Amino acid sequence: MNEVQIIGTGSYAPLNIMTNHQLSELVDTSDEWIVSMTGIKERHISQGENTSDLATKAALEALKDANVKAEDIDLIIVASTSPDQFVPATACLVQGNIGAVNAMAFDVSAACTGFIFALNIAIQFLKTGERTRALIIGAEVLSKIVDWTDRNTCILFGDGAGAAILEAGTKKGIISINSASQGQKARFLTCPTVDVKNTFAKGNKDFKSTISMDGKEIFKFAVKIIASSINRILKENNYTLDDIKYVVCHQANARIIDLVVRRLKADKNKFFVNLERYGNTSAASIAIAMDEMNKKKLLKAGDKIILVGFGGGLTYGASLIEWTINK
Ligand code: COA
Repeated sequence: MNEVQIIGTGSYAPLNIMTNHQLSELVDTSDEWIVSMTGIKERHISQGENTSDLATKAALEALKDANVKAEDIDLIIVASTSPDQFVPATACLVQGNIGAVNAMAFDVSAACTGFIFALNIAIQFLKTGERTRALIIGAEVLSKIVDWTDRNTCILFGDGAGAAILEAGTKKGIISINSASQGQKARFLTCPTVDVKNTFAKGNKDFKSTISMDGKEIFKFAVKIIASSINRILKENNYTLDDIKYVVCHQANARIIDLVVRRLKADKNKFFVNLERYGNTSAASIAIAMDEMNKKKLLKAGDKIILVGFGGGLTYGASLIEWTINK
């Protein structure tokens, strides 16, 4: 069996920034409420770019960082809750845009845990030798599926994309990964696509294809599952938090991360946070955070990090990684 390493990262977010003050002109909210309840100050909102456009820009940056040509990629997986179209997969659009002519390309739908699921799937292909070099991307234009009249949700989300290049080799990089789902809780976070309306079905007059959520249930789930996922992956690999340089949680809400820190009696500085500038970018958030850490040279080869995701599905997953990029 091969080992798998991350050899490059990239990210992209639309240039247009929307502040909490701008949001307070759309719905009955305030900067003070949003910051105190979520930690979010601003988010990037697309002015026309779609998910594949963001994903392509993040992918090109990751290829450059890894010093790899698009033709050398043989697997592309895009994780997204807001793909461009039903058909083709956003991954195929990215493949066409970057000229990765030798790749198999497909999407995964695992909401905010999508990047971890994509990583988990890619690892299986690379470990077995079925594929050699993978491009995995978390990309979202959530602004097109947000209900801009619902102050419970529209304040939370932002647009963006993050990418990583993975390579099969002999040196250990990804130490451990696990992903799971709790479909019995699926109703707590939903975004329908199109209604069943045809010759045989009338459709539902209240049908809405926008995000809706039970915020309190998601909040409780998130705190519990992030803490238990971190504990589990540490225990399974005989590590403690002292061995970990950074924990990168899905960037949804600063209060969720604060409660996890308290639950684990951890050092808050170990938990990387950039959600104040992006909001919740769903499948993109962990990848964007990892790229920011890479660009800021916060990680050196040999450092251990934990990525933890949670989201609609409900889904969750974690990965313990030895950083192998030497800047
Ligand atoms: N601005 C101002 N007031 C708001 C508001 C907003 N945007 N949204 C809700 N309120 C009000 C409510 O009407 C309520 O007022 P009331 O006490 O007079 O009835 C009060 O603030 C509290 O609202 P509530 O919905 O009970 O707040 P909460 O403690 O559940 O916090 C969230 C709301 C969304 C911040 C929180 O539930 C959360 O972050 N959940 C997790 C969501 C998430 O991360 N989803 C993505 C997962 S991948």
